[in-house]
Amino acid sequence: MYKYDNYDQQMVDERVLQFRDQTRRFLAGELPEDEFLPLRLQNGLYVQRFAPMLRIAIPYGMVSSRQMRKLAYIARRYDKGYVHFTTRQNLQLNWPRLEEVPEILEELASVQMHAIQTSGNCIRNTTTDQFAGVAYDEIIDPRPWCEIIRQWSTFHPEFAYLPRKFKIAVCGSEQDRAATQVHDIGIHAFLNENNDVRFKILAGGGLGRTPMVGSIIKPSLEPEHLLSYLDAVLRVYNRYGRRDNKYKARIKILIKALTPAVFSKKVEQEWSYLKETEAKLTQQEIDRVQSFFSEPDYPELTNINLTDLALSSESDFQWWLRRNVHPHKKPGFSAVTLTLKATADAPGDASAEQLEAISDLADEFSFGELRVSHEQNLIFADVPQRRLHELWLNLKPLNLATPNQGLLTDMICCPGGDFCALANARSIPLAENIQRRFDDIDFLHDIGELDLNISGCMNACGHHHVGHIGILGVDRKGEEYYQVQVGGASGHDASLGKILGPSFKMDEIPDVIDKILKTYIELRTPEERFIDTCRRVGIQPFKERVYAKAA
Ligand code: HEM
Ligand code: SF4
Repeated sequence: MYKYDNYDQQMVDERVLQFRDQTRRFLAGELPEDEFLPLRLQNGLYVQRFAPMLRIAIPYGMVSSRQMRKLAYIARRYDKGYVHFTTRQNLQLNWPRLEEVPEILEELASVQMHAIQTSGNCIRNTTTDQFAGVAYDEIIDPRPWCEIIRQWSTFHPEFAYLPRKFKIAVCGSEQDRAATQVHDIGIHAFLNENNDVRFKILAGGGLGRTPMVGSIIKPSLEPEHLLSYLDAVLRVYNRYGRRDNKYKARIKILIKALTPAVFSKKVEQEWSYLKETEAKLTQQEIDRVQSFFSEPDYPELTNINLTDLALSSESDFQWWLRRNVHPHKKPGFSAVTLTLKATADAPGDASAEQLEAISDLADEFSFGELRVSHEQNLIFADVPQRRLHELWLNLKPLNLATPNQGLLTDMICCPGGDFCALANARSIPLAENIQRRFDDIDFLHDIGELDLNISGCMNACGHHHVGHIGILGVDRKGEEYYQVQVGGASGHDASLGKILGPSFKMDEIPDVIDKILKTYIELRTPEERFIDTCRRVGIQPFKERVYAKAA
């Protein structure tokens, strides 16, 4: 994990002091609201329905147990005792008091964390695969590249006032676990035929009002040019991106208007001025950053047979082994997901007590470190397989061993109408209704891999467009309704879901999902996942079943 040097620490500390003074002046009436607004956004502070919301960055989703304990302390001391993990490897506090935010930022700075550039029209937290560095299918560890981007982007003066917010995601594995195709820029690291590291650059993906899958604008880029090329992309966007209409200001709209080919030509031209300047990365700098991501001190272990382990144990544990334990590149190790999706807990929420217990378990079982996934879950990346059962026994009483990773009830869900002023409908109670209805673990496992994503409005914070089943809150004459889509996906084969038809009331949704699942069960071939069936048969059979009149 990257460690701040004196220079990093000083920048973050100075920012805290600066924001402390800005907040003081605002509260004293010396700084008008419209002048305070961009300043607070640059420090992660939104104003939402009932209270401010503070968004804290978790660079590439890595967090140490020490940082996690601090987050637990902050949640208890300055909030209501819980935190919310988001779809972009960030963490949100829903109830901080404005006057205490500078103190929170000071606490964060003491453990090398901050909330800088987590809001506003700037380059946001760069995200990646939660299994980075340990994934069995990894080609290149994306974390050093994320860190290089982080250092370049966080205080980049030229990109502090972009037309709109800007999100970058990096992946270096065969599977894309970072939803790179629905980001403003998606970066795929790979090895070329000579085994040299190269990046494929996609741009113009994004969700929200006009969802789009990104296009390849550079099939192969040498690593030393990563920053100069990103600079060029951002410059072209900064120059031509629309500023007259907030809804048309994202890079996806520009790329669509110009076509990806013309956009990439403009980038090439801009890049030609930058390529051989100081923006070029030196090997020394790449090595320096890579040195922070060396492997932990793995003991020599051999793989144990997880099927045998499962057979000798309780059935809950068997489910958990099957769903929440993932292959690891090192023999004798596994990665483990704690889904923050126990029924009746708001998806992505964790209490201060849970965070403290998780930190202790991270120290004991996983080199004192944790990961956050864009599915709003937490991960122990390095658990010795022979200790899996012991870890599970510890997680169970904490309500953190729900064996549903990747299943229907492991849903992505935005805060919706319970917190967000923009919502058309509530999401959290809907998530709970669905979890209650589909709580039969046998049935969930039979259905298999299924991403259900819920957003409370078309801003799509809950990624509903790329859910295998996506649910969107809509407003019909002042009443909460929900529109249902099927067929979305966020991996390497990303696709946008298609709307089934007219929307439903909250209490109708579990039945609608039941009909969708029954249609799948009827039509699937053996081995076919829900998304495969959707792609093969299209939405028509689902539509017919869902809207069939009762006989
Ligand atoms: C204060 C209320 C809000 C809450 C609680 C909220 C929550 C979230 C969360 C949790 C995410 C996941 C990503 C992240 O960590 O940045 C997100 C992303 C997103 N937010 Fe919000 N958000 C709020 C306000 C807004 C506003 C004001 C807009 C725009 C008008 C917006 C539009 C979006 C979009 C479009 C995404 C992700 C989709 C994408 O571009 O890929 N949100 N939001
Ligand atoms: S999708 Fe809409 S309701 Fe949900 S958090 Fe985002 S802006 Fe708020």
